[in-house]
Amino acid sequence: MEKYKLNNGLYIDKIGFGTYKAGNGDYVPTLINAIEAGYRHFDTAAFYNNEHLIKEVMFKSNVKREDLFLSSKVWKTEMGYDNTIKSFEKSLNNLGTDYLDMFLIHWPKKDLKSDDWKELDIKTWKALETLYKEGRVKSIGVSNFLPHHLINILDKCDIKPMVDQLEIHPGYIQKAAIDFLKDNDILPQAWSPIGRARVLKEERLMELSKKYNKSVAQICIRFILQLGVQPLPKSSSVERMQENMDVFDFEISIEDEFELMCLPQIGWSGEHPDRERIYFD
Ligand SMILES: NC(=O)c1ccc[n+]([C@@H]2O[C@H](COP(=O)([O-])OP(=O)(O)OC[C@H]3O[C@@H](n4cnc5c(N)ncnc54)[C@H](OP(=O)(O)O)[C@@H]3O)[C@@H](O)[C@H]2O)c1
Repeated sequence: MEKYKLNNGLYIDKIGFGTYKAGNGDYVPTLINAIEAGYRHFDTAAFYNNEHLIKEVMFKSNVKREDLFLSSKVWKTEMGYDNTIKSFEKSLNNLGTDYLDMFLIHWPKKDLKSDDWKELDIKTWKALETLYKEGRVKSIGVSNFLPHHLINILDKCDIKPMVDQLEIHPGYIQKAAIDFLKDNDILPQAWSPIGRARVLKEERLMELSKKYNKSVAQICIRFILQLGVQPLPKSSSVERMQENMDVFDFEISIEDEFELMCLPQIGWSGEHPDRERIYFD
């Protein structure tokens, strides 16, 4: 698998595997299939309540711990210095490992009403820095942080975040955030890279699928890679897991890339770090 290099020199696979509700909750066989399909980077979170099942996957599969890349996240309710350290310990324990490859702050705001989110983010970030300096985690970062959330961290950090995980897919690319991350040498990661299947029937994507003889999901993933972003697709089917990695043998033209960048907004989850979630029908 081709790799990206993080700002601390660590190499990570260009495509990782999303584990939220993987296999509709039937995690163990699904994740074993993902390992067999070639995925090594697994994106989990305390909130997903599946870390203990990933431990079982590691036990049952033949792959060595050092060949896997395990990333987890501290949830909103566990933010703050001491709670974050405790949450990290719990994640380690759940996963049955003594280090993580990546640990992220899941969302910048514990709740939308809190006026002190900047202070809480800094306390949480300081805990991640401690864990990183102690060598207990190989890379640290954030998730769902837009530039105005990140500036707060960048102003006061000793160690810069290495990644920021955002919702990114055709129809919702958050270009201003991607550009800000690139200017600051922070790798953007894409959650819901195929818009949780909401973009699969988009007309222009379907035309490009025919043009490049690739599936719509492959067009989405390839487009995200061409933006210099790491996609984290999830699938419960072995065929689609393989399909989602089979994207290194074609290139979307610059004209088509611009067209995809300028698609009208489609497939947005309804989640935003500064707003109440919107639920669509
Ligand atoms: N940081 C955050 O706040 C946050 C939020 C949401 C998600 N995430 C992370 O991002 C990961 C991925 O996001 P996601 O699960 O929301 O969405 P996604 O990966 O964009 O989409 C998954 C959906 O697409 C389908 N699919 C996958 N590959 C396909 C293909 N080749 N052709 C057709 N359909 C395909 C899957 O169905 P099948 O299973 O049937 O293939 C599933 O319904 C999560 O698992 C999680 O790790 C992070």
